Amino acid sequence: MTNVNKYLKAKEFWSRISYIHNTDNSLPEIPKITLTFAQSIDGKISGKNSSQILLSGQDSMILTHQSVHDGIMVGVGTVINDNPKLNVRLFEPGTENNIQNPQPIVLDSKLRIPENCALITLPKTNKLSKYPWIVCGHAADTSKIKEEPILEELGATVIKMEKPECCLSTGRPLIKHVLNELKKRGMDNIMVEGGSNVIQEFIRKHIEERIVNVLVVTIAPVIVGGDGLGATDSLSLKGGLNCLKLKNVDYERFGDDIVMASEL
Ligand SMILES: NC(=O)c1ccc[n+]([C@@H]2O[C@H](COP(=O)([O-])OP(=O)(O)OC[C@H]3O[C@@H](n4cnc5c(N)ncnc54)[C@H](OP(=O)(O)O)[C@@H]3O)[C@@H](O)[C@H]2O)c1
Repeated sequence: MTNVNKYLKAKEFWSRISYIHNTDNSLPEIPKITLTFAQSIDGKISGKNSSQILLSGQDSMILTHQSVHDGIMVGVGTVINDNPKLNVRLFEPGTENNIQNPQPIVLDSKLRIPENCALITLPKTNKLSKYPWIVCGHAADTSKIKEEPILEELGATVIKMEKPECCLSTGRPLIKHVLNELKKRGMDNIMVEGGSNVIQEFIRKHIEERIVNVLVVTIAPVIVGGDGLGATDSLSLKGGLNCLKLKNVDYERFGDDIVMASEL
């Protein structure tokens, strides 16, 4: 399949599942959220010691390397571990083909983001890449917050959740307040791409307040084994009847991968 066809298939998939996305959002003050990750058939999102492994094939990867969402969010753990670019791949974004890079957003309470990571350095050389928004809290360790001017000089925007009621006592911003702030800054829909802690936090909050509109999981024909990191390893749902049962489930094959979309 050519890249154009792969891209069109990915677009078609997003538009097909938009009915899930458009189901009643009871929280108009926050962006619509697509929670997404790629996992092995034994439920792992990375390898031993959180090492990054290539799970998605090129056909399914294009689903995340597209321009359907205003923003794309990860936790700082993923930035430190994987050094992602979070931009549109296979196609050069540009006005002529109406493809734009999404706004990269990093959840990073204490501004641990490395200054030389791809998210900060790439936009210097690639005009179409967007500098990241970095969301921090009123961190317990305020010495780290002093790096804020450095990050801003490098081009990043630091969004500080200063009000105590917007953060935990550790200084970590509360997701609902972060999402509300992002909505005020023009983000109508955001794709949340991981990693493990962030996925679990979104699921926990969703159980309380239904913040996730659609879950999209790529299942790759790979076995990682017990050393790998699972998407929900530290999420306790007490099993049995308390399992989260997904609704409105849809599947599509992309190359060797199966992609599942559903309501959470
Ligand atoms: N297969 C996939 O689709 C996929 C996608 C992405 C990542 N990954 C894998 O996931 C792993 C990284 O996962 P991770 O759990 O270490 O890191 P993560 O989820 O990317 O980031 C977690 C960090 O984000 C910060 N954070 C800020 N606000 C938060 C909030 N409200 N809730 C949760 N975290 C918040 C916390 O650090 P502070 O407290 O310092 O702010 C936390 O330690 C890597 O192995 C990576 O390869 C896999």
